Amino acid sequence: MSASIDWAALQQHAKTASLQAYAPYSRFPVGVAILAASGQIYTGCNVENASYGGTTCAERNAIAAAVVAGERQFQALVVYTPQEKLTPPCGICRQVIAEFFTPESPIASCNHLEQLQSWTLQELLPDAFTPMYLQASQKV
Ligand code: THU
Repeated sequence: MSASIDWAALQQHAKTASLQAYAPYSRFPVGVAILAASGQIYTGCNVENASYGGTTCAERNAIAAAVVAGERQFQALVVYTPQEKLTPPCGICRQVIAEFFTPESPIASCNHLEQLQSWTLQELLPDAFTPMYLQASQKV
């Protein structure tokens, strides 16, 4: 893990965000903190919907909050769930993370037992489809 990243601060922010989770259907609260290249931390929680497909994950809500604040590049992401099994980002979120994070970016998961596991984005989503492929295409 990168030495310059304050993992304890990211874990605390992710945990605090999870307390705002709106998860009446799954009862699976999730909080996420992301560190922007600017040094700023942004957070998100999952927001569920009675029409279940309308649910948005904590990861995507954190990224949306950062993007609306003007951020485009990020250094690290931490997921918090109060679960014994450390939770990695879901498949849809991995794709959205790949839009803004480099393949080497650390993506970590932590829980109420102070456990922390980290992967690189490359490990979670190898050979990701990224904006680079669209730029290389001949638009018709
Ligand atoms: N969830 C997230 O917020 N992030 C993930 O990476 C995994 C799943 C949420 C969606 C839903 O509200 C609940 O967890 C159960 O799937």
